[in-house]
Amino acid sequence: MKYSPKLKNRSLLSINDLDDSEMMEIIELAIALKKRRSDGIRGNLLHRKNIALIFEKGSTRTRCSATIAARDEGGDVEYLTRADTHFGVKESVKDTARVLGRIFDGILFRGFSQETLRQLDLHSGVPVWNGLTDNFHPTQILADLMTMKEAFGTIKGKKVVYIGDGRNNVANSLMAGCAKAGVDFVNCTPEKLFPEKEMVQRAMAIADKNNSTVRITSNPDDAVVGANVIYTDVWFSMGEETRKAERVSLLKPFQVNMELMEKTGNIEGELIFLHCLPAFHDNNTEASHDTGALEVTNDVFEAPFSKVFDEAENRMHTI
Ligand code: CP
Ligand code: NVA
Repeated sequence: MKYSPKLKNRSLLSINDLDDSEMMEIIELAIALKKRRSDGIRGNLLHRKNIALIFEKGSTRTRCSATIAARDEGGDVEYLTRADTHFGVKESVKDTARVLGRIFDGILFRGFSQETLRQLDLHSGVPVWNGLTDNFHPTQILADLMTMKEAFGTIKGKKVVYIGDGRNNVANSLMAGCAKAGVDFVNCTPEKLFPEKEMVQRAMAIADKNNSTVRITSNPDDAVVGANVIYTDVWFSMGEETRKAERVSLLKPFQVNMELMEKTGNIEGELIFLHCLPAFHDNNTEASHDTGALEVTNDVFEAPFSKVFDEAENRMHTI
């Protein structure tokens, strides 16, 4: 399995830690790893490597992807939560980082603050990877771009429209990832949820270099025209549960439904639906039984153009 030595021993705090070609190289590597796994071959890229998984928030995909991906390559993981460690409670992040760095070969962190992640990276002396913070979700975006590559063959020049909570971790990282991949990106969200100006300007500069565009708008009908990817995420992220009612009323006009998919003008052509998951697409969960579908309707979620389970599987190959 070939990859650039430049990628070894590197941390990933945000997608901008990778240059454009490194990001695309990781996607190619993930595609090769997926093929190798489907051929029944288990690798040893992580032979005798131990990885700490520190999770302050819940997870299905990220935790399981990291665990199985590491095991498949001969490595091992230890799952740590705030409840069963001293992390940030009885012991500072800096001290915990220095201890874990002596024991583990790498740390994957999921939590609230980007600063905690930065402290881990600064003091552990081992590579630290962002498994989601309030600000960014870079490993998700690698899987999203991989899924687009599988669907379309090539991703440069495609148009991705993200509709929903425009300033969350997934929206921020998707904007940066698309800019780096030369994909036209539109973030369609109410003005109240516009992403930080500085982040948008940085993505615009990268997109410009790659002959693509970044646009922020509040008009879904206009945003989706010509889209190849319609992408949404939950309307209230982990840690924002008390904002549910407020967000539901603010984001109702931004729901992804069949009518909106048709407005792309691409429904018979090159169009896929993506969602990082978990999704409120019906009323089958505790959190959605009183509301029903929120960010995406069930018919879109279950449609043949919905690639959400390829995307979820690709979390494992990319991570
Ligand atoms: N998409 C994603 O990160 O899922 P989990 O929260 O289940 O890890
Ligand atoms: N924005 C969501 C992503 C979940 C994978 C959250 O932070 O909860």
